[in-house]
Amino acid sequence: MHILARGIAPRFTVPALFLIFAVHYFTYMTNKPTRYTITSALPYANGPVHIGHLAGVYVPADIYARFLRSKGENVLFIGGSDEHGVPITIRAKKEGVTPQQIVDKYHVQIKQSFEELGISFDIYSRTSSKIHAETSSEYFKKLYEDGKFIEQTSEQYYDPKAEQFLADRYIIGTCPKCGNENAYGDQCEKCGSTLSPSELINPRSTLSGEKPVMKSTKHWFLPLDQYEPWLKQWILEDHKNWKTNVYGQCKSWLDQGLQPRAVTRDLDWGVPVPVAGAEGKVLYVWFDAPIGYISAAKDYFKNSAIKAIHKSNTWEDFWKKDDTKLVHFIGKDNIVFHCIIFPAMLKAEGSYILPDNVPANEFMNLEGDKISTSRNWAVWLHEYLEEFQGKQDVLRYALCANAPETKDNDFTWRDFQARNNNELVAIYGNFVNRALVLTHKYYEGVIPALGKLEASDEGVIMMLKEFPGKIAASIEQYRFREALGFMMDLARLGNKYLADTEPWKIYKENPERVKTILHIGLQIAANLAIVSEPFIPFTSAKLFTMLNLKANTWNNAGTIDLLKAGDQLGTAELLFDKIEDATIEAQVKKLEDTKQANLLANAEVKPLKENVSFDDFAKMDIRVATIIAAEKVAKTKKLLKLTLKTGIDERTVVSGIAEHFDPEKIIGQQVSLLANLAPREIKGIVSQGMILMAEDADGSLKFVQPDGVVNAGSMIG
Ligand code: MF3
Ligand code: ZN
Repeated sequence: MHILARGIAPRFTVPALFLIFAVHYFTYMTNKPTRYTITSALPYANGPVHIGHLAGVYVPADIYARFLRSKGENVLFIGGSDEHGVPITIRAKKEGVTPQQIVDKYHVQIKQSFEELGISFDIYSRTSSKIHAETSSEYFKKLYEDGKFIEQTSEQYYDPKAEQFLADRYIIGTCPKCGNENAYGDQCEKCGSTLSPSELINPRSTLSGEKPVMKSTKHWFLPLDQYEPWLKQWILEDHKNWKTNVYGQCKSWLDQGLQPRAVTRDLDWGVPVPVAGAEGKVLYVWFDAPIGYISAAKDYFKNSAIKAIHKSNTWEDFWKKDDTKLVHFIGKDNIVFHCIIFPAMLKAEGSYILPDNVPANEFMNLEGDKISTSRNWAVWLHEYLEEFQGKQDVLRYALCANAPETKDNDFTWRDFQARNNNELVAIYGNFVNRALVLTHKYYEGVIPALGKLEASDEGVIMMLKEFPGKIAASIEQYRFREALGFMMDLARLGNKYLADTEPWKIYKENPERVKTILHIGLQIAANLAIVSEPFIPFTSAKLFTMLNLKANTWNNAGTIDLLKAGDQLGTAELLFDKIEDATIEAQVKKLEDTKQANLLANAEVKPLKENVSFDDFAKMDIRVATIIAAEKVAKTKKLLKLTLKTGIDERTVVSGIAEHFDPEKIIGQQVSLLANLAPREIKGIVSQGMILMAEDADGSLKFVQPDGVVNAGSMIG
């Protein structure tokens, strides 16, 4: 486009119409989209966002959107809260509030934390909004009127006590595939199988715990089987370029054969089914939520000032024109909904475009364990933002560098620290700082002129030229880790250039040469400011200011014409600082505490023993004794030899507690002693009695002792 306009315009006065035609023709021939609609999975508004969500969906989506904007593309980046579905109503019930109160709380929190992390949504909408109710209900009505649904009355589980049908997560039972006793009606979280309630063995209601009964109810189904041939062609033949993990999952679904799928539910939270005879029924959350992407666009364009930013386009241009490229960013658990069900819905409706790509990511684990909301095993975004103020880019960087693009990956705090200290500080920060500080030192911050180039300069300039294209190509193929690596390589190039030319060493003898070196160094830094913007936008903005770099975009990068000799730089400040061990240890400790708390909360309590008679109990002589000496029993791991003062005598007891107590530290402690237990020889020592211990859920031992010091020999009973 640029080449055409620049090459032709000066020589001929081309009629405006022809130019418009030429531009369109060029666009058409190169298959270059005119605009982009980028969606990111709408998070459920029933809990905060964690690093798994970020690494899988929001960080890559944001990099993609920012990159395209920097290229001058017309981008609509959509986000929003998914505010329907059973987990939200269950949570509301548990907390004794309304579902609306739940989603209001989390919508605000999620929206704000995304904003703080610099996720640059054009709109962050929500599915409890009026515009969404209208959009999704019209959508349903259109399919209904066009005869795209099957109406079916069937027997479904019903809880007579709660007087409610048991949709999805309201019912649990044993998974037929793996035997997990707590599988949900729609999914087993243990083995990942998709289930329907009727498959559950031994089903129970999560409302009352009771066995449900069957009751007949009418629902509307999308006959996915009818779309199967088309989906097979569209995905398996026409989209072989999709990521292997995505393509593979789709293939396995399609190979198994598709079945009609209910798009309505018997619930009182959701968008009411807008047809007669559907009282008490709402749209299935996975029917209404993806339509949320469309309502969000409508919501956004309600504000007419917005149109100007988007080249006078309307929401419909972004959803209905063939020259729009639609890309869904999601996690792998959403693949079937975005690659099969939603496309079938779009196809059934008929007026919408289909996704060009669905670059789903795998999962991010945390310190070797699956991230879990219920176990609180996560790094929560809002907490990170609190605890690491001003370090948004460090998280963005660490998550992208380690993104689960082709397989599940692990986030560790040690890796986070290393990414910051060894890469952001030591490479990016160090390079930029050197170039700026030296310019301030030698030239009072005025950009020096470029002199005669040496071979090493020419080499660096040539390499520099390659970077924007290389990074762009990786981003365009959704290879964000690779792109980030190339971005960092540019910083490495700058670092190496300064390390090789050593301007600080030659300044005295060759000041002219230093001018050229720093000029080039600053130009590299300016390039870095541009190409790092999608990844670490806060840092990029600071660097723009420090370099006094005017609004430059991706299309200008790759040259050493970004800064002008004679211009004044801004003040230099550090872009990153080192993260200390103590900071990381505190985070690791926090996770360990969580693990401990979970262990205790889930500890199995042993069943009660058989009754004993009072006489049996009275036979036992339990009394308080004081430890007066303790030593390890030689050649054993577990045994301590204790000397106890019982009030009657001093005696020896051998106890298997050596792994839990330091012998020196327990002297003076009072313990409970079963004093009339028949003596027994252990490792050649006669043990006269047994001390009572309480075993904690994690296996640790504690003495059973009086809550204040008492006389040795006091009876317990
Ligand atoms: N709320 C869903 C989840 O967290 C994602 C919904 S994506 C949408 O898994 F397409 F339905 F919006
Ligand atoms: Zn299972």
